Amino acid sequence: NTYVIIMAGGVGTRFWPFSRTNYPKQFHDVLGTGKSMLQQTVERFEGICPIENIYVVTNHEYEQLVTEQLPLLMPDQILLEPHRRNTAPCIAYACYKIGAKNPDANIVVAPADHIILKEETFRDTIRVALGATRQEDILVTLGIQPTRPDTGYGYIQYIPDKRMVKKVKTFTEKPHLDLAIQFLESGDFVWNAGIFVWNVRALKNAVTSFLPDIAELFGEGEKYYYTQEEVPYINKIYSHCGNISIDNGIMEKADNVHVVLSSFGWSDLGTWKSLYEVSEKDENQNVTDGNLILHDTQDCIIKTPADKLVAINGLHGFIVAEYDDVLLICRKEEEQKVKELVAQARELN
Ligand code: GDD
Ligand code: MG
Repeated sequence: NTYVIIMAGGVGTRFWPFSRTNYPKQFHDVLGTGKSMLQQTVERFEGICPIENIYVVTNHEYEQLVTEQLPLLMPDQILLEPHRRNTAPCIAYACYKIGAKNPDANIVVAPADHIILKEETFRDTIRVALGATRQEDILVTLGIQPTRPDTGYGYIQYIPDKRMVKKVKTFTEKPHLDLAIQFLESGDFVWNAGIFVWNVRALKNAVTSFLPDIAELFGEGEKYYYTQEEVPYINKIYSHCGNISIDNGIMEKADNVHVVLSSFGWSDLGTWKSLYEVSEKDENQNVTDGNLILHDTQDCIIKTPADKLVAINGLHGFIVAEYDDVLLICRKEEEQKVKELVAQARELN
């Protein structure tokens, strides 16, 4: 009765050029383990639900990548979106589809691009959340102790009590820096890990209340899911879906949000700096991958193709990343600028 939805349709812009529209980061073996982040995500749920209950939602562009990387999934388990509409439509599609078959299903929604070091602790946390959603129609998310006023995350303020599943007071998606600093200093807030647990009823109630247009489109689809008409129907309606994240669309608004505080060695590999933090460094605090000659070079991330000799002298605190036909050089502290650079690059192409 438990299902897992893996969201794998993002582009990972802040991780450019390593993550690109035609090959986003979730399909890469980022940490050199021999498996892509998507493959690792699927394996992480072993023991939570059978493989036939795992659904991957992605853009139609990545159909081949997903099928190649996850040969055990049946075509019905790979949901293809014709347009990018952020996470709310992606989640609604998969939850309504699962609900059409199993209205009592409990569902875990997970991104395909996170690092989780303590997998057993992670599964224990998921089991706690599932225990709650079997009893109550609530929206549960996992909370991570924040370590810096990062503006790339959602912030959750909860009502402290002894229960493992705590009631959430406020949910603020990607606050401005001054607000993030206040949240961090107050000590009452945790980061939203972006991993959600609920049952079909709770999710449908929330979508109906806060995103009624989306509820109507995917509710209407219930007569087509698991039939030949599913794909044409989805292709027809997707462009009518609003472009909105589950965090902005539902989590900020709902009053039945709960959080399980967790610490399982979590990292959203969203940016170059997050890769730097989790990677092994050399004696000069560089994270390197490539055919390199380095002199007087410190605190850098350097990731270049193996077949190109790169020689660097006197570089401190930079990202140097070459992938395919793109070379990025950017001050490590200014990595949020990468998004702007990508926007400009898109205009040129
Ligand atoms: N299928 C599909 N379609 N997947 C998508 C789409 C889409 O249109 N857009 C994004 N995704 C996938 C991404 O690939 C990623 O796995 C996941 O959904 C989350 O999207 P991100 O774009 O990475 O979100 P974020 O990191 O900015 O913010 C979310 O995660 C943070 C933690 O990592 C939010 O939930 C924040 O509140 C949270 O703190
Ligand atoms: Mg992310």
